[in-house]
Amino acid sequence: MRYRHLGNSGVQISVIGVGCNRIGRTVDLSGAKAIVHRALDEGINFFDTADIYGATPGASEALLSEAFAGLWDRIVVATKVRSKMGEGVNDLGASRYHIMSGVEASLRRLKSDHIDLYYIHEWDAHTPIQETLRALHDLVTSGKVRYIGASNFAAWQLARSNDLAEMRGWNQFVVSQEEYHMFERNLEREVIPYARYAKLGIVPYFPLAGGFLTGKYQRGDAISPTRVNYVKPYLTERNFEILDRLHDFTARRERTVGELAIAWLLHEPQVCSVISGATNADQISANAKASDWTLSAEEAKEVRAILEA
Ligand SMILES: NC(=O)c1ccc[n+]([C@@H]2O[C@H](COP(=O)([O-])OP(=O)(O)OC[C@H]3O[C@@H](n4cnc5c(N)ncnc54)[C@H](OP(=O)(O)O)[C@@H]3O)[C@@H](O)[C@H]2O)c1
Repeated sequence: MRYRHLGNSGVQISVIGVGCNRIGRTVDLSGAKAIVHRALDEGINFFDTADIYGATPGASEALLSEAFAGLWDRIVVATKVRSKMGEGVNDLGASRYHIMSGVEASLRRLKSDHIDLYYIHEWDAHTPIQETLRALHDLVTSGKVRYIGASNFAAWQLARSNDLAEMRGWNQFVVSQEEYHMFERNLEREVIPYARYAKLGIVPYFPLAGGFLTGKYQRGDAISPTRVNYVKPYLTERNFEILDRLHDFTARRERTVGELAIAWLLHEPQVCSVISGATNADQISANAKASDWTLSAEEAKEVRAILEA
């Protein structure tokens, strides 16, 4: 396994991480334990969850607390706040009020005294960003949170936040988690240039396009109801043609398209970890294989040509 710094911070995370949004939804406790232990065996130390993940809000964090028991000094755990967690008017958003109650609820569910990386899940247009940043800074100062991150922020929102934090002497976002994969490359226009300039880490989500980029779906396949919303938008003839060409590219190298999808993201130096979701332990091992593939400049050029043909 290779490791990179979590953005502009000193802590190191595995370049392959584990996305945990299926845990507590389609993955039960024994499945979660198998995934976590296989990940550790593969050298993976980075796990991504959120308050909202699971069949009911909090279910992913609650199940993961059992799987993480006794492991907290070996792993880097990220969770998120901002989603609607209850019926109350203040049970959502990035207000100081909700962040402070949200962190306590996540710590209770995770059965931990700290969260390694705490993300704001999405920009909150109704809360002054100063209020959000000051609350996050206080959480870092109190030791409840070690690092902070943004998610689904535009480049100007990242720049505004981190410049403000720098001016006020507050903790800055060390990473941003954004949708980024071979079929969604909007990030390359504004966010990645900003991230390179500001030394901000990028954690791509949806790296396998919901599984489509593993090549597991064939033309005309029926998609299971638990996957249909995530995968169906990608099942176009153009995408299948691209997938065929990516398959030729990887077959010549005795690799898989899934490995390429991950290695291609890691070709961008600002990407610190690729958090593919997994529904079983074997998927963890399959995805971990991408760690030893560093694309050459020629390979990256060839892939780009395939994606843009
Ligand atoms: N910040 C945000 O707003 C946001 C939004 C979405 C996701 N996320 C995070 O990003 C993570 C990754 O996204 P994602 O899980 O939705 O999408 P993904 O990583 O693109 O796809 C993961 C899915 O693909 C299938 N899969 C994974 N590895 C495989 C393999 N080796 N072979 C065959 N199938 C494989 C599994 O589903 P099946 O077994 O069901 O096919 C798995 O659940 C999430 O877990 C979550 O932590 C964040």
